Amino acid sequence: MTISDILDRHRATEGALLPILHDVQAAFGFVSEEAMRTIALALNLTRAEVHGVVSFYHDFKTTPDKQPTLKLCRSEACQARGVEALVADLPEAAQAKVKTIYCLGLCSVGPAALVEGEVHARLDAAKLQALVAAL
Ligand code: FES
Repeated sequence: MTISDILDRHRATEGALLPILHDVQAAFGFVSEEAMRTIALALNLTRAEVHGVVSFYHDFKTTPDKQPTLKLCRSEACQARGVEALVADLPEAAQAKVKTIYCLGLCSVGPAALVEGEVHARLDAAKLQALVAAL
């Protein structure tokens, strides 16, 4: 998969920037400066316009992840379902790998987490510890 393949796939798509950025990140793990220049040229945008979109959305990365993280929802519904107790049960080193986010849209089946684009719901202590250990 190359950036050209991704651009070809979305050539006829209206509002293609976000789908292209998602596909680039899915393929390469991040959106490089070179990719932003190539995308801008293909979509007749400035590099600043593409960079503005990439930097606006926190889930787009401009450098490769050194270590995968687990994004754990600690918003109200997941709090009501016991997420804070799950975090407290994690060893300190494991807690460092957990990044807090607020709501994955899985409120009715929380506590919920996101790992490498895959969602995990109905977490209990054992499931959360297994996910962190697998990072
Ligand atoms: S509050 Fe946790 S997924 Fe919505």
